[in-house]
Amino acid sequence: MTEHQDVSLDWMSSDQDELRPPTDLRPEIPHPARMYDYYLGGKDNFPADREAAEKIISLSPLVRISALANRSFLQRAVRHLAAEHGIRQFLDIGTGIPTAGNTHEIAQQVHPDARVAYLDNDPIVLVHSRALLAGAGVGNATVVQADLRDPAAILDNPEVRKVIDFGQPVALLLFAVLHFIDESDDPKAIVRRLLDALPSGSFLALSHATADFTDPDQAAKGPAVYKAATAQLTFRSKAQVTGFFDGLELLEPGVVTAPHWHPDQEPQSSDSEVAIWAAVGRKA
Ligand SMILES: C[S@@+](CC[C@H](N)C(=O)[O-])C[C@H]1O[C@@H](n2cnc3c(N)ncnc32)[C@H](O)[C@@H]1O
Repeated sequence: MTEHQDVSLDWMSSDQDELRPPTDLRPEIPHPARMYDYYLGGKDNFPADREAAEKIISLSPLVRISALANRSFLQRAVRHLAAEHGIRQFLDIGTGIPTAGNTHEIAQQVHPDARVAYLDNDPIVLVHSRALLAGAGVGNATVVQADLRDPAAILDNPEVRKVIDFGQPVALLLFAVLHFIDESDDPKAIVRRLLDALPSGSFLALSHATADFTDPDQAAKGPAVYKAATAQLTFRSKAQVTGFFDGLELLEPGVVTAPHWHPDQEPQSSDSEVAIWAAVGRKA
């Protein structure tokens, strides 16, 4: 994509769309979803996204490896939750632009009737996700524009409630999104509010960028690039990330860097190379 686009959502299928105005993708401002798409080698990004992403890559050349490692963790965690814990419902917030191995594809390999509600605040994610979901099976997956900073609106959203039964266990997925929530928005309270709405036997799975392995001067440079973007970047320490799991039972191996969570094969990268904390916890 190279130029400004107003994307009409008229062709989309859900009832909500009748009420929605054309979507302004604001291509002149870097968007985290499109920067992440660029790290992953995708084509759904604009020059401003690529320019900001290149600045991050020059500061941290391993960001592409980290993005792939995060994506691989997402897939292993979803498969683990479906296969080992019988989870059939997934609330995936901060979905990102669809790429290979999306949540519903992984979950439905294990349980063909698995249901997924995707939520993201970036309109481009909705445009692409809805095209993909056309094949996901009616009623089994939906995509909703929503902001993680408003958990009550997420929980009350009628589209979400059509797909997710809050009386049955749900996996709350927050992969690589909480680091876009500023401390002033109280991310811990947001996670707590969402978990409070889920029954016992539900799970929280998340990943989160960290500066635990970076010297402070270098660590300040990444968030500085995101200052020009639609969402700011906040690194958190292992202790802070562990705090999101307060009151939950952490699954083995606890909070580890993404490649070390139930790896399919011996991880090739060190902690400092993929500075992303990853964990899954269960609500008793
Ligand atoms: C780095 S991508 C992660 C995508 C996917 N979860 C993954 O791990 O592969 C972060 C996503 O979070 C979304 N995001 C950022 N802030 C958000 C917010 N306040 N509410 C909802 N989504 C948000 C961005 O639009 C982007 O799609």
